[in-house]
Amino acid sequence: MKNLVEKAKEKHILSADEIVSLLSDNSINNSLFKAADEVRENFVGNDIHLRALIEFTNICRCNCLYCGLRAENKNVERYRLSKDEVLDIAQNAVNSRYKTIVLQGGEDLFFSAEYLGEIIKCIKAFDVAVTLSIGERSYDEYKLLKECGAERFLLRIETTDKDLYSKMHPNMSFENRKQCLYNLKQLGYETGTGCLVGLPGQTLESLADDILFFKELDADMIGIGPFIPHPQTPLKQCDSNNFWLSLKVMAITRLLLPDINIPATTAMETLYENGRTIALQSGANVVMPNVTDSIHKKLYEIYPNKASVDYSQLQNVLRSIGRRISKEKGFRCKR
Ligand code: 5AD
Ligand code: SF4
Repeated sequence: MKNLVEKAKEKHILSADEIVSLLSDNSINNSLFKAADEVRENFVGNDIHLRALIEFTNICRCNCLYCGLRAENKNVERYRLSKDEVLDIAQNAVNSRYKTIVLQGGEDLFFSAEYLGEIIKCIKAFDVAVTLSIGERSYDEYKLLKECGAERFLLRIETTDKDLYSKMHPNMSFENRKQCLYNLKQLGYETGTGCLVGLPGQTLESLADDILFFKELDADMIGIGPFIPHPQTPLKQCDSNNFWLSLKVMAITRLLLPDINIPATTAMETLYENGRTIALQSGANVVMPNVTDSIHKKLYEIYPNKASVDYSQLQNVLRSIGRRISKEKGFRCKR
């Protein structure tokens, strides 16, 4: 099994069967995490890129079974930030030295591409990179948003298991989601995707397929998060002990896509003490601190007890593990 880790570290290739063997054997975890950490250092260095996350609307037309913001959850107090509120938060983040603003929201069509485009143009005037995480839109909408200055887009595939995908996403189409990702790539966005780990009924085989899909798409960023059950969703009864498996999926992703950006996800920190730091030492090189004001942050409850962190806290943590905050915008440097 150690040979498989070595092979992945040198050649950045594994078959689906080989990935499944690695995922099912926990005796190799330490060597896997160490190999991913070394590949991370060799390919993307010791700098950590920070992305300031603004949750600008918690209104969503979708009904993803796992998510607290699903349309059918009537217990959520819904909000939309105004353009001025978004720009205010963005300005503060820029003042705090963030170099990327991420606009994340539910699938809320109140924010037309034209309106979002106006907001993006104003943020671009601060000389920062803009990432969008707003779900599925048409090719033309993605095109307009790109022309307004957005250079990155996050859209997790969530799972590549088609049956599981349709169970988890009522009235959504796996094919359309995939098409959205290829459209984003074609339009020249730095394209981020990723998956949830620990969904009920998910197999190690399907996680292996997820990783191979990231490679097939040549994704520029991959966010992997453990599934955390939310009490106001149909999946409230499910297990939540998915931290180590999600860390393994992340580490293997680093071995196979050595030069991409990989965040230590908030869900990892939420589920396990020091999960963020452990992830940063197992292949991750990005952190996405939430800069939304505290009132709205509380209302953006995808899963409960979301961890949070600010710039100076992070600076201290990073220093203690021999890493530092990048001064660059942190685009992927293809190698
Ligand atoms: N646990 C963990 N992650 C979740 N997401 C949504 N609901 C949950 C949950 N209960 C993730 C999805 C989505 C991202 C914004 O949040 O993967 O793409
Ligand atoms: Fe909406 Fe995203 Fe939650 Fe799905 S995961 S319900 S698209 S906010």
